[in-house]
Amino acid sequence: MQEELNKIKAEIFKELKNIKKEGEKISATIVNDLEIKILGRKGELSKILRGIKDLGQEKRKEFGKFANNIKQEITEEFQNVKTMLNFQKNEKKNFFDITLQGDYVNKGSLNPITLVQNDLENLFSTLGFMIVDGPELESDYFCFETMNIPKHHPARDMQDTFYVETDKLDLVMRPHTSSMEVRAMKVYGAPLRCVIPGRVFRNEATDACHEHTFNQIEGLMIDKNISISNFKAIIQEMISGIFNADVKTRLRPGYFPYVEPGFELDMSCTICNDSKNGCPTCKHSGWLELGGAGMVHPHVLKAGNIDPDKFSGFAFGFGLERLAMMRYGINDIRLFNSGNLKFLEQFR
Ligand code: PHE
Repeated sequence: MQEELNKIKAEIFKELKNIKKEGEKISATIVNDLEIKILGRKGELSKILRGIKDLGQEKRKEFGKFANNIKQEITEEFQNVKTMLNFQKNEKKNFFDITLQGDYVNKGSLNPITLVQNDLENLFSTLGFMIVDGPELESDYFCFETMNIPKHHPARDMQDTFYVETDKLDLVMRPHTSSMEVRAMKVYGAPLRCVIPGRVFRNEATDACHEHTFNQIEGLMIDKNISISNFKAIIQEMISGIFNADVKTRLRPGYFPYVEPGFELDMSCTICNDSKNGCPTCKHSGWLELGGAGMVHPHVLKAGNIDPDKFSGFAFGFGLERLAMMRYGINDIRLFNSGNLKFLEQFR
């Protein structure tokens, strides 16, 4: 009988070994059937175990122990195989191949104007300037009146302003960020250091160099004893922060009613780098106008409740599009608002 049991054990272990080798290809029912065939009530092993009771007392004790051990071993092995198969099934379900190529997700990108604006904000912050924001739909008062441009002053023609038809309020789409100068002075007083980036609007025919909607950055620095040399230092800092290349700047006299003296600031054209012949972008001059600047007019300081006898300051207003064009070699201003993905994707 012992031999018989050993034979059954050897056979069943052999079979279970094969099953393990086949792994997931084996269905659970095969293992269950086999278990019933051996361990079930009418199974081979049970038959033998049932015969134990007919043995003599001595033998019964000895053989019974042996038989139970064998049964135990076989039961355990079945359990092992079942857990293994189950495990494989689960593993297959949860399997995630990390070497598979992922799905391609289209990434967005920042508009080059935003990139330049972010850099300017960082740069001016390190120089101790506040970043100030203000309304695009603005009163005539802050755009012109406080800026030393009274009604019927011919300078109002300089900017082709979009006037907004309203019953009571005199509103315009701001033609320059200078509208924020007096607002900032009134809120923060002197001394004051701030930049105001923002969108501005002009009733202008568009071409490669002109847009009706564009961006400026206004700068204002007011303190005791501020002079043009402070302005030149700040501008040099700004230009070398935005451009890595050797970029030259020049100041020309310019007229703006809210500064005295006033300048226009030009930078050398980085698209052609050719001061002799130039290119279409710089209108063949080799220079590109970035914007205006000057020492804040006493009337403007007064409008901002700042005493012009105690304080002086400079202001500037530059076009962000011009800066971005020079930085990235873009030759048409209309591209920025075009929504052209081929253009925008280059700035990822
Ligand atoms: N507001 C002027 C413009 O839009 C620029 C400027 C700002 C000039 C500040 C002088 C002082 O062109």
